[in-house]
Amino acid sequence: TAQRDIDLKAYIRHIPDFPKPGILFYDISTLMRNPDAWQMAMGRLARQVAPFKPDILAAVESRGFLTAAPLADRLGCGMLMLRKKGKLPGRTVSHTYELEYGSDTLEIQEDAVSPGQRVVIMDDLLATGGTLSASAALLRKAGAEVVGASVLVELTGLGGRAKMDGIPITTLLSYED
Ligand code: PRP
Ligand code: MG
Repeated sequence: TAQRDIDLKAYIRHIPDFPKPGILFYDISTLMRNPDAWQMAMGRLARQVAPFKPDILAAVESRGFLTAAPLADRLGCGMLMLRKKGKLPGRTVSHTYELEYGSDTLEIQEDAVSPGQRVVIMDDLLATGGTLSASAALLRKAGAEVVGASVLVELTGLGGRAKMDGIPITTLLSYED
């Protein structure tokens, strides 16, 4: 069908100097606002993530929420939130990490994962890998078995994949930068 021919890269908008001078921002807003392109993207993402056989998807605040929720629904698995500091109620475990710009802290609820559950981390973008590797470290602290990670966009020139300690990562769209 015509839908299979959609070039998803055409829907990713590149905005220079955001949020800081020298940073090229890969904006998925333009992908999300097109129903055919977004549906195609979620279908392809589901086909990439299904082979991991996840029990639960770990969604990285904020933009990881956008892919994890539709994927959990498509794959029939659960989801959990890795949130920025101070947002989660109850007992939490935290981890601070460096970003492409600045630093941040992620938290997980201590009881978010059960022993033996297969967890796949979901985010929109892999740049330096700071966020994904911190997410993996946090999940392991909470007792999770991290079997994979999934992003919409990978910026391969920043070497983020090398920080992932052998965790397999699937990427929908990659850019050499
Ligand atoms: C962005 C992006 C990824 C991360 C990628 O999130 O959504 O999570 O940076 O960069 P890295 O590989 O260098 O860590 P950001 O922290 O800007 O916040 P947001 O998702 O809440 O917009
Ligand atoms: Mg993010």
